[in-house]
Amino acid sequence: MSELKEREEWGSKIGLILAVAGNAVGLGNFLRFPVQAAQNGGGAFMIPYFLFFLLLGIPLMWIEWGIGRHGGKYRHGSAPGMFQVLWKHPIAKYFGALGLVISLVIMIYYTFIESWTLAYSFFSLTKLYFDQTTFEGMTSFLTSYQGVTQSNHFDSLWPAYSILLVTFVLNFWILYRGISRGIEKLAKIAMPLLLIFGIVLAIRVITLGTPDPSQPENSVWNGFGFIWNPNFELLANPSVWLAAAGQIFFTLSVGMGTIHAYASYLKPKDDIALSGLTTASTNEFAEVVLGGSIAIPAAVAFFGVTMTTQIAMGGSFNLGFVSMPIIFTKIPFGEFFGFIWFLLLFFAGITSSVAMGQPVIAFLEDELGMDRKKATMLLALIVFICVQFVVFFLKYGFLDEMDYWAGTFGLVVFAFLETVIFMWVFDSKKAWEEMNMGGDIKIPILFLYIMKYVTPVILFVIMVWWAVVDAIPKLMLTGVSEESVPYIWGARLLMLAISALILFLVKLAWDKKEAKAKA
Ligand code: PHE
Repeated sequence: MSELKEREEWGSKIGLILAVAGNAVGLGNFLRFPVQAAQNGGGAFMIPYFLFFLLLGIPLMWIEWGIGRHGGKYRHGSAPGMFQVLWKHPIAKYFGALGLVISLVIMIYYTFIESWTLAYSFFSLTKLYFDQTTFEGMTSFLTSYQGVTQSNHFDSLWPAYSILLVTFVLNFWILYRGISRGIEKLAKIAMPLLLIFGIVLAIRVITLGTPDPSQPENSVWNGFGFIWNPNFELLANPSVWLAAAGQIFFTLSVGMGTIHAYASYLKPKDDIALSGLTTASTNEFAEVVLGGSIAIPAAVAFFGVTMTTQIAMGGSFNLGFVSMPIIFTKIPFGEFFGFIWFLLLFFAGITSSVAMGQPVIAFLEDELGMDRKKATMLLALIVFICVQFVVFFLKYGFLDEMDYWAGTFGLVVFAFLETVIFMWVFDSKKAWEEMNMGGDIKIPILFLYIMKYVTPVILFVIMVWWAVVDAIPKLMLTGVSEESVPYIWGARLLMLAISALILFLVKLAWDKKEAKAKA
């Protein structure tokens, strides 16, 4: 094995922490979280949310850092090789393939949404949407930009498409530059700025007071009340619990294979116990404190509770791309606040999307021996082809279908697999040692039992529950309009094709290795 090249490494500890925090802090923190909280009982949502943070989020974070650093020792930067190290059965690597499929599928639609945030930061600066003052107007501006509806704001999809290309090139340029010169550098610039923008925006929202004195109930304080006042009755509803678990997964980026990839570039004695905890806590600060203080309280201050409930029902995009822009048109220096809001989303987005690309690149490099340039180009090609469908079939629910299977259901399945493989097959004692090795803190022993018994049981229950109440009806196309059916099937076929391609590459890589070992 003389041709072994040096594996890449993180340049500094702070850089690594910022990169993993950047991976976790994403659009989910600022758009998805406030909507989930508002829809699922406000303050009461925080009870299952924090419970799952302790019982699923933190344990999975440590498990994934552990699996990742362990795999890195054997020069594996992605889940197939990592699972193979932990579990000597030939099928292990195919289970690991799920870790590539999920991050790849999410990357495909996530970069498109990310590109909207970049576009809107320019639209804010140039006041392009400032003549829209109603929800109808702002919604039609957005859907016209997305090419979902025809109207006179944008007469073609070209603006959206070109900004997608810019976003796309940026992502792959960073990935091409590699771990320390690309991803780490990006995080060192984007994360501090994101934090500053978030704090500035939160302060701006808190000082909104009562924007219209003739409507005293529309105040920012009622906005905080709206998102935080607990409605305990809702806790009897299982869907609230599932939503909380789903949000914990998505926001911490666990169950996708991305944390593993980042952790694989650590040295075997580097700390993971404290680093894992620090990144998870940073994410929670960005989510609960910043994410919870911007979009929803501002919406209540300007539009009142009833209207905000409706906005939240309309989903994350309405909150971020419709109600926020209307507010910017109404406040002094709105163009500036709009600019930093969307730039904040863009930074949050890009530090996450590069993380979604890294597992596949690591796989192509480590298992198929490609150099980084080739690996990046191949990934770019795949993403580029697939994203076309997302762009052109947006209105038929193509994106949502991918988000459901990869970004909601897939995560739980993968998390369950990795927990069982690490804590049971590999053995909990060895796993515990691995996670604590080189640690700047000692993980409280209670977590050993949580990781071994509680986490997998909860994951299993969620998985089965979800399969029954959500996945099966979804699979049967319940509630899907006739017109969308072929596109939904298209999305599924595309995901199947991606899975088939990955499985094939995994097989190819191991066949090659075997042939080499024999020679
Ligand atoms: N955690 C990111 C967010 O909150 C999303 C993400 C998903 C990041 C998958 C990496 C991998 O938006």
